[in-house]
Order: sequence, then structure tokens, then C-alpha cells
Amino acid sequence: MKKVLVIHGPNLNLLGRREPEIYGKTTLKQINQALQRLAKIKKVRLNIKQSNHEGEIVDLIGKVKFKYDALLINPAAYTHTSVAIRDAILASEILAVEVHLSNIYCREEFRQKSLISPVVKGTILGFGAKSYLLGLEALIDLM
Ligand code: DQA
Repeated sequence: MKKVLVIHGPNLNLLGRREPEIYGKTTLKQINQALQRLAKIKKVRLNIKQSNHEGEIVDLIGKVKFKYDALLINPAAYTHTSVAIRDAILASEILAVEVHLSNIYCREEFRQKSLISPVVKGTILGFGAKSYLLGLEALIDLM
């Protein structure tokens, strides 16, 4: 069975009550449940992590190579700042898809640049919680 690591970045633990007009009312728990349901149907195994710490995310990515077949990541605010996460994805040589709930290109200028997009297979954004499901489907097709 193929294995996928899902990483949710900082503040995504607050989904549901964090700026619901932008990120929706779906909680992280509900997103994870939907991902697990899809994974079960598609017969892949998911391991899901959330971290508010850049170094912890770098460590998680550092271990993906021999343990997983693909990475689904919403780096959240680190999307726009983290050379360390970008370098970790590059070093891991893992098949990765980046997702965002919101369309970062319609938002503040500082969000309109992703340091992660150039080092992943593709990016899905703007579909709320559905972005994650679309991202997982894309990975499953590619694996
Ligand atoms: C986000 C967009 C980021 O700019 C923001 O910092 C987040 C969430 C999204 O999923 O839309 O925390 O990654």
C-alpha cells in the first residue's frame, strides 16, 4: 500500500474558528476525516501531522524519503517565508503537492509569493477544504 504524509503548517489547528470568511468553517479534524475517507476508498495509507514549528516541519520532511511515497503539504504562513522548508522538500526528492484553502494570489501582496510552488509537482489552491482532497487525488494519480 502506498503511503502519503500530510503536513498542515502553523495555525491550521485553528481552522473552523480562524477567519472563517477566508478559510471556511470546516475544522482540521473534519478535513482529516475527509482525507482518511478518500484514502480508504483509494487504498492508500495516510499519516497526518500538524505543526506550528518550522524546524519540526523540516524534520518531518527530512524523514519522508524512505518512509513515504508522496507528500501533501499546506505550509500555511511558511509558504511565503521558509527557505528551510523549500530546501527540505528539494533534498527529500519526494513527490509533493502543495495545497492552500484560500487563493493566495487574490490576497495581500506578501502572500502572493510561494517559495514552495517551484519545488513541488503542483499546487492546488482556492477551493477551501476541497483543495486537500483534490491534492490527494492528484498525488494518488501520480504515484
Ligand atoms: C494558507 C494561506 C497562507 O497565506 C496563510 O498564512 C495560512 C493558510 C491557506 O491555506 O490558504 O495560514 O496556507
